[in-house]
Amino acid sequence: MVRVDNALPESTSVHWHGVALRNDMDGVPGMTQTPIGAGSQFTYDFTVPDPGTYFYHPHSGVQLDRGLYGVLVVDDPAEPGAYDAEWIVVLDDWVDGTGQTPDDVLATLRKGGGAGGMGHGSMGGMPMGGMGGDMQSPLLGGAGDVAYPHYLVNGRVPASPVTLSAKPGQRVRIRVVNAASDTAFRVALGGHRLTVTHSDGFPVLPTVTDALLVGMGERFDAVVTLGDGTFPLVAVAEGKAGQGMAVVRSAAGDAPAPDATPAELQREVLLGTQLRAATQVALRPRDVDRTHDLVLGGSMRNYRWTINGKTFDDADPLEIRQGERVRLRLRNMSMMFHPMHVHGHTFGLRETGARKDTVIVRPMESVEVDLDAVNPGQWATHCHNIYHAEAGMMTTLSYR
Ligand code: C2O
Ligand code: CU
Repeated sequence: MVRVDNALPESTSVHWHGVALRNDMDGVPGMTQTPIGAGSQFTYDFTVPDPGTYFYHPHSGVQLDRGLYGVLVVDDPAEPGAYDAEWIVVLDDWVDGTGQTPDDVLATLRKGGGAGGMGHGSMGGMPMGGMGGDMQSPLLGGAGDVAYPHYLVNGRVPASPVTLSAKPGQRVRIRVVNAASDTAFRVALGGHRLTVTHSDGFPVLPTVTDALLVGMGERFDAVVTLGDGTFPLVAVAEGKAGQGMAVVRSAAGDAPAPDATPAELQREVLLGTQLRAATQVALRPRDVDRTHDLVLGGSMRNYRWTINGKTFDDADPLEIRQGERVRLRLRNMSMMFHPMHVHGHTFGLRETGARKDTVIVRPMESVEVDLDAVNPGQWATHCHNIYHAEAGMMTTLSYR
């Protein structure tokens, strides 16, 4: 049970991102509850069905990009003592110091002016880092619309980083949460390879990589056996200029420089779509009862982002029925990343089976996801670039 006291001058809500909870606790004003007005309270009361790494944030405008969020870790009673230490690593992009608020940024984007003095905006509707990027890169495409002045790890800029400590040789579980509104990050730990064990809270077949791409709203857990020394944990803003950093320390010695760029960042970069489900969480094979196509479109020019050509205000709900196996075909017909998120359910990626609630759909690519309709209600389904969601890229998964 969580009591929310709204001390803000405007209304708000709390959404429990990734938690398959009862619909009336999902925290989406206008869909699952009335907004929590300024000075009012609301009590959320729900059961968490699955262990894992989650986060929570308002589902009200761009409040998320003002830093209103927190991490929610649901411990797994079946795995006590599996790790010697555990670190939570939260990534964010931060507008502070520009004289603009996230609401100003959204207004500027809507006027078609990019993001004022701080943004690269568009080039004839084509995001920078899009076609101009490295065609060999598996990460081709724009990750976000705004070049932020600051990238944060656990709320700190690289010049005054947090320190994450453990002893040499210890096994550390790192829970990475991308809480940024408009930035995907490429994450690496200098001198180490990461063994990825969970994506969006659910176990995957452990997969070793040098670096990992983390989209907005995605979470990954990785395990490392810590070396002896000090190491940079770096999160590079994908398709933008800048990075966040934390210092990993298992010994005395100088901290890495704020602009340290571990070689691992340029090696093998793992995407969430490459991970395979651990057998115990793979969806049971069965026929698909219903398929919905979600064509993701829009452009930087008028900053209107759509699903099947419509913004949220006139979107057609995606109708499903209790008990069905539902397939969503996510087709990105634009030149931007769209990390697509479904509330109230986890889906299995059709190709790999990995259980997730948020998946990056890269420019001009498609991802198919399957879910079991076992949680009745009205469920927001949207891009987790919060600016895209606010500019229309949202619909409803609706039980009838
Ligand atoms: Cu984390 Cu509908 O969002
Ligand atoms: Cu998007």
